[in-house]
Amino acid sequence: MKEQIAKIKAEALAAFEGTQAAADLDALRVKYLGKKGELTAVLKQMGSLSAEERPQMGALVNEVKASLEAALEEQARKLEAAAMEARLKLEAVDVTVPGKAPHLGHKHPMYIALDEIKEIFVGMGFTVLDGPEIELAELNFDRLNAEEGHPSRDWSDTFYFDEDSRVMLRSQTSPMQVRAMDTMPLPIRMVAPGRVYRKDEVDATHSPMFHQVEGMVIDKGVTMADLKGTLTTVAQRLFGEGIRTRFRPHHFPFTEPSCEMDVQCHKCGGAGCPTCKGEGWIELLGAGMIHPHVLEMAGIDPEVWSGWAFGFGLERTAMSRFKIDDLRLIFENDVRFLEQF
Ligand code: DAH
Repeated sequence: MKEQIAKIKAEALAAFEGTQAAADLDALRVKYLGKKGELTAVLKQMGSLSAEERPQMGALVNEVKASLEAALEEQARKLEAAAMEARLKLEAVDVTVPGKAPHLGHKHPMYIALDEIKEIFVGMGFTVLDGPEIELAELNFDRLNAEEGHPSRDWSDTFYFDEDSRVMLRSQTSPMQVRAMDTMPLPIRMVAPGRVYRKDEVDATHSPMFHQVEGMVIDKGVTMADLKGTLTTVAQRLFGEGIRTRFRPHHFPFTEPSCEMDVQCHKCGGAGCPTCKGEGWIELLGAGMIHPHVLEMAGIDPEVWSGWAFGFGLERTAMSRFKIDDLRLIFENDVRFLEQF
């Protein structure tokens, strides 16, 4: 029996030492020390021993049991340490490896210009509005005094969604004037930038999708002088203090009187060059005093309130601001181009 116990001990110790994983060690614990384990089996044979042998053998089994338990514990610690080391090795970060710089995007020059424009208007007390690109023809045309048959309503110019020409991609941001009049309390000072759509072929100055910034002021006693003063100040803030503006009479259905504002050519300073087509001036925006009928249609009494409005192309303004000569560059998103600004 003694030999049997010694054999179990030697076998078990060797087996423990050979384990690589905690689960294997657990299986061995059951195999040797468990209720149905080999050492327990030996104890069960004690009945066949003499009364003198029994306590000796009992002591021996207990001693072996204790040393196997100690060995198990020792091996478990070793396995744990090895597992930790392996994990540390696996998760180690070599802080000396050169990093990969994340590629940051670049703000588009047109949005740089738009941010400047918004800041200028917000500083003057204007609210910035956002509105739908899918618009009712009623708001894009009727409520802006462009009645049935007005040339801008033609199918060849406008993207309609339906046969009756009632729903369309807005062709201008001006319907935001109507939306503001319908929803905002008076007085109103607002600008509304956004995309507009027209059936134009792409070339150096045209695109079927482009951006406009609409603006409107309605208050008591506002006049054309406010319009000229405000828009000239905006142009000076945007293009530099020295810039000159000029206002020419024009026609828009929703303003009376209407005008266009030009800024002096940034390239030649007014002498005339290819950029301004020899004119010395670059057309920047349309504007005017809001037509009394447009106010009336919005339920605003033109005897009490007056207003002025303007709209300009954002691409063209950004092109002037950053001296870009082809509209297509704005939409191509070539990083080599964009990163220059
Ligand atoms: N909506 C006009 C256009 O697309 C621009 C414009 C002109 C807007 C005069 C205005 C305005 O608000 O008063 O050509």
